[in-house]
Amino acid sequence: MSDNIKRIIVSNSNQLAEKGAEMFCEIAKKSISDRGRFVVAVSGGSTPRAMHGRLSQDPYISDAFWQNTHIFWVDERMVDFAHPDSNFGTARKDLLGKIPIPVNHIYPMPAMIPPKEGAERYQMTLKTFFQSIGQDDPVFDLILLGIGTDGHTASLFPEQAFTYSNQSWVISVKGGHPNVFRLTLTYVVLNRARHILFLVSGKDKALIVKSLFEDNTVDLPAKNIRPLRGTLTWLLDQEAASQLF
Ligand code: 6PG
Repeated sequence: MSDNIKRIIVSNSNQLAEKGAEMFCEIAKKSISDRGRFVVAVSGGSTPRAMHGRLSQDPYISDAFWQNTHIFWVDERMVDFAHPDSNFGTARKDLLGKIPIPVNHIYPMPAMIPPKEGAERYQMTLKTFFQSIGQDDPVFDLILLGIGTDGHTASLFPEQAFTYSNQSWVISVKGGHPNVFRLTLTYVVLNRARHILFLVSGKDKALIVKSLFEDNTVDLPAKNIRPLRGTLTWLLDQEAASQLF
């Protein structure tokens, strides 16, 4: 494992949520003290929900860092925000509705317009935001990712070869579970982040974790997450790590 890649194994999913929240808070505070703001992109799926729940309790909820936090999305399913599959809708319930974050610091992906248009619009949202802070490139302070049992991450799926080399910042794809149109950040954006944190929990992830770490021949989306200059941390629980050598 190279110097900028780290693996942390905790005992169970509660500890994963606890450690994830602790790292989120640490990176937020460091980003604010270094640059005056914390810019994060969150993923959907079930794994981050417990961490979001943890962040919406003390000591995190009453911390001042939320005032200078900007939250974007790694990916979104093209469903109404009220639908249970909506990543934004779920985060709103678990986290956003509870924390003291300014409402204009929350940047949901537009899920209710045609997918291509949604991708273009979100790319423009990113361009405008990053230019406003003097950056031509989209460099997030933290990007949170999960993995699927097929090795997908974000909404970048193994069978969709066109996603690997796409130079856009945001694209629309159809796939995954639920199999709907989605918007997703691309590798171009993900790999520029200062910190990337994978949260992986449960024994159904054990085999894919093993092949991502131990099989050099696999070519899967999660394996293409290689930070250009930042750091990558794999936060695994014991079950997800159970097949590792
Ligand atoms: C999404 C995702 C996706 C997710 C993984 C893991 O579907 O919205 O962002 O990449 O992170 O599929 O999902 P689980 O946490 O539910 O296992």
